Formats: sequence, structure tokens, C-alpha cells
Amino acid sequence: MPRTVYLETFGCQMNELDSELVEGQLRALGYAFTRDASNADVVLYNTCSVREHAEQKVWSRLGELKAAKAERPGLVVGVLGCMAERDGSALMKRMPVVDVMCGPGELDKLPTLLDNAVRTRESLIADASVDEPDEVSAWQSALQGSTSRRSATLAAAQDSLELLDLSRSTFVGVDDAGKSKKTAYVRITRGCNKFCTYCVVPFTRGAEVHRPPEHIIDECKLLADSGVIEVTLLGQTVNHYRFEHGAAVTIGGVIQPQKGRSYQGGHRRDPFAGSNVTTFADLLRRIHDEVPSIKRLRFVTSYPRDFGDDVLEVIRDHPRICRYLHVPAQTGSDRLLKLMNRGYEVGEYLEFLDRARGFLDQPEIGRPLMISGDFIVGFPTETDEDFEASLWLLRKARYKNSFIFKYSPRPGTVAIDKFSDDVPEDVKRSRNNQLLAEQNRICDEIGREQIGRRFEVFVEGFSPRARKQRAKAPGAVSLTVGGRSREVGDSAADSQLSARTDGDLIMLIDAPAGRDPAQLVGQIVPTLVTGAGPLWLTGEMVTG
Ligand code: 5AD
Ligand code: SF4
Repeated sequence: MPRTVYLETFGCQMNELDSELVEGQLRALGYAFTRDASNADVVLYNTCSVREHAEQKVWSRLGELKAAKAERPGLVVGVLGCMAERDGSALMKRMPVVDVMCGPGELDKLPTLLDNAVRTRESLIADASVDEPDEVSAWQSALQGSTSRRSATLAAAQDSLELLDLSRSTFVGVDDAGKSKKTAYVRITRGCNKFCTYCVVPFTRGAEVHRPPEHIIDECKLLADSGVIEVTLLGQTVNHYRFEHGAAVTIGGVIQPQKGRSYQGGHRRDPFAGSNVTTFADLLRRIHDEVPSIKRLRFVTSYPRDFGDDVLEVIRDHPRICRYLHVPAQTGSDRLLKLMNRGYEVGEYLEFLDRARGFLDQPEIGRPLMISGDFIVGFPTETDEDFEASLWLLRKARYKNSFIFKYSPRPGTVAIDKFSDDVPEDVKRSRNNQLLAEQNRICDEIGREQIGRRFEVFVEGFSPRARKQRAKAPGAVSLTVGGRSREVGDSAADSQLSARTDGDLIMLIDAPAGRDPAQLVGQIVPTLVTGAGPLWLTGEMVTG
């Protein structure tokens, strides 16, 4: 019987990708995966530290595992990702239930570390008498210490991390039910150099490193060969991608040159484009042209200062690049942008929005540009006036959706040291709700504008309503699309499908009579929008 692993992922798409890679590596070592934590031999949490709330969820999960571990001493518990990096040994002290920890920069070592932990534990249990549980737990610490296992140099660390990205060839493309996956993430940049004062990411994920374009393109080809038709490129500041060929001798990627020598981003074209540099615009063009079977190319998350016209032109001129940008503004107040160290003013952000819409907003050909954003409310010292400026910006930007967060002070960041968290919780909550309400109103408006338009949509799976119904239906099997599981059942069940436009709008459609809805999952189909609400469009499939 293979040992079983329960792996739960918290936080961002980068974590989802890391989990997918870890899963592939562990499968290669003979582990099987289960969705039921209560009968797993190994429980892994891939964690997020961006806000305290995300960490609390993991703490409570770990608390619940205490009882499980007392009953099943063979259980091995691992904490991966940003919490492992940030909290280090403090986490193990607070939660002795944890056997293995592994930060995002050491994930390539996880399979060996975990396998050792599992085998050590098994042999300890075989040796120890049942009356001596202490003897087993005394060995827990021997399995700790992953965070101190730093690679000798940054370049060496990047090389082995790169191997983790490259390792996906062995497993991608097939889910538990043996069906082809159609959508995938591809990392192009690791880490972040921006050091926004509120953010832990530069500390947990480290310095910005750009992967070699050949590796990225090969990975896209490999995914396309295994049936993937939608690729989302990932980076914390994805449009800051820039690979200087020969700049750093490492297979792991180019470590951004020191300040002063480096390209500073901004709105202008990269002055060195075309020489020995692959810019973000070049990378998009190459993937589009060299991997034609990828029907949709997306990228997240963009940084507002780094959109040169060259990037916008490439998106405009290459039909399989999606008209969707996720470009967080964070606040509409110049004073707070400065305290956040965001590196731009509201005026520059608005200039970018105008320019992007000028290049890319083409509703007349069924390709309106959709933009989404992030806001933080209740950043230290935020006044009513600052907040009004955010509300104003949210209206002005007309985001198709916004991710709105209450400021959460994070240990290790500049903001927690420099500013007191002085906006009361009820004020944060009320500002959060006001932005959400305004965003909902805009979503509703944008949705209604789409009625009567035709869109090609990517069918991701059954709608939540149909999934619920189908989960109860006999004979349902699971199909994983976009890292999430969808239930695919028999034809007597609800056949409402959930799909996405290239601008990332969700559309619910019914499979036409006589078509097996399960066969439509993973396809791009033409539709007409017949209705809209704040959360999704409704539509029907059309021919041609
Ligand atoms: N508090 C609240 N929100 C935060 N974000 C990042 N750090 C914090 C924090 N300390 C938000 C930002 C970012 C998104 C991923 O999370 O809006 O864009
Ligand atoms: Fe964090 Fe700012 Fe980097 Fe985004 S750009 S990951 S908010 S430091």
C-alpha cells in the first residue's frame, strides 16, 4: 500500500503551483494523494503569511492535528511555504505536532526531507513499545531543522529550485481520474524586490530571480503537448520580467543586477530590448508564436509602473494573449502610496489605465479590456480623506473586480516597525465594506454592458450549483481543472457549466441539448451573453 498524503494549500497562485510541483515529486517517490486528512499518513500545509488571518487558519488546523497524532503516532505533519520560512523554529516550538518544515526557497529538498521523516518515524514506531510514546516524540526534533538547511549560495539555491520547476514533466497533464489537464501555471519570476512596507513576500520568497526564457518556453511546450490550452504566467511583479543573457552563470535564472545597473522598469520601453535581453514583451511574443497550441496566455500579478508600450503592443497584436490585467493600486492616496513604498503616484497609475485602455479595450471586436485590482484599507494613519481617495480611484478605474484587504501588520516588515496599527478594527471593517459595496455596483454595471455580446469562453467545469447536485448523484467522478477539483457526473444531473471569458469574466452556461456536458469541460466554445449579475454572466452556446 502506498503511503498517502493530504496536502492543503493556502494563499496565492504561486503556492498552488508549488503544491502541484511538490505533489508531482512525491508521486514520483511512490506516495499517493488523498482528499481525506483523517486517514492520511502525511498531512502537509502549504502556508501563506501575507495576512495574519491566513496564518491563523493554519494554527487552528495544526491544533486539530494534536488529537489525531496522539491516536496515530505514525502521522507525519509538515508545514511548507511562507509560515515555515517566517516562523522557523518558533513554529515548531509552539506546535510540537510539526515534524517537517520547509520554506518556499527550499521546496526542492522537501521530498527527501519528508521521505526521511516518514521512514524514521516508521522505524521508531516499530522499535518503540506502545507504552513509550515519549520515545517517539523525543525523535520529532531530529526531523526538524529544514529552515536552517540553507543552500550554500543564492545561485546554488536557485539552481535547485529551477530543477523543481523543470521537474513537472514527469507528472503534469493527468489528474486523478486519468484525464488531461487543460490549464496550468508557469512561473517566470521568483521572489520580489519591491519591498512594499506592509508586505512579507520579499522576506519569505527572497530576491527577484528571472527564469531563463528557454526553460519557460520548453515548459509551455511540454504542457501544450500534454493537452494544456491555457497557461497563466506567474510572478509577484510579472511584467518586471527581464532576462539578460549571460548576465549570471546559473541555470536557475538571472538574479536581478544590483541597483544602479538594473533596468528600473517604468513606462518607457526597455532601452536594451533587442540586444542580449529578453524583455517581458519578448517573452510573451515568443510563447505566443512558438507554442501555438496554447489558446490562452495570461499573466499575474502586474506592477503598475512596469507596463511599457512594448508590452501593451504585444498583447494587442497577439490574439491568444488575454485582455485581462491584474494591477493592484493598493490605495488612492499619494501620501499612503509613499508610506507603502509603492514607487508611483495616483496620477501615474491613471496614466497607465488610460494607456492600457487605449491599446487594448476593443469591445467592438468582442475584446473589452478587463482590469482587476487590490486595495488595502486601514493602513497606518489612513484618514477619511485617504480612504475617500481609494473609493474615488476604485470608481475611476472601473475594475472588473477588486481584492480588498484590511491592513494586517506583519512581523519583519518595515511598516510594523515604523507605524502603529492605529486604524481601529471597526473603521477598517466599515471601509472594507464600503469598497466592496462600490465594487459590487461596478461589477453589476460591467456585467450588464456585456449582454448581447459574443465571447469565446473556456469551460472550466460544472457550476457550483451543478457540482453540489452532482456530488450527491451516483457515479460522479472528479476532474481537476486549474488546480481545483470539479465533479463530473452522469447526464441525469444538473448540467450547468462554469466558464471564463478571455477578460476573466465568469459565465454560466447550460450545455446544449444532445451534448455531453463533461465533454465540453476544458474546451473553448463560442457563446452569447444573455444575462448578468454582479458575480457572473449567464450565456448560451452559439454556433460559429
Ligand atoms: N495587510 C493587508 N493586505 C496585504 N497585502 C499584502 N500584504 C498585506 C498586509 N500586510 C495584500 C496586497 C497584495 C495582496 C496579495 O495582499 O493588496 O496585493
Ligand atoms: Fe509584496 Fe509589493 Fe512585492 Fe507585491 S510588489 S509581492 S505587494 S512587496
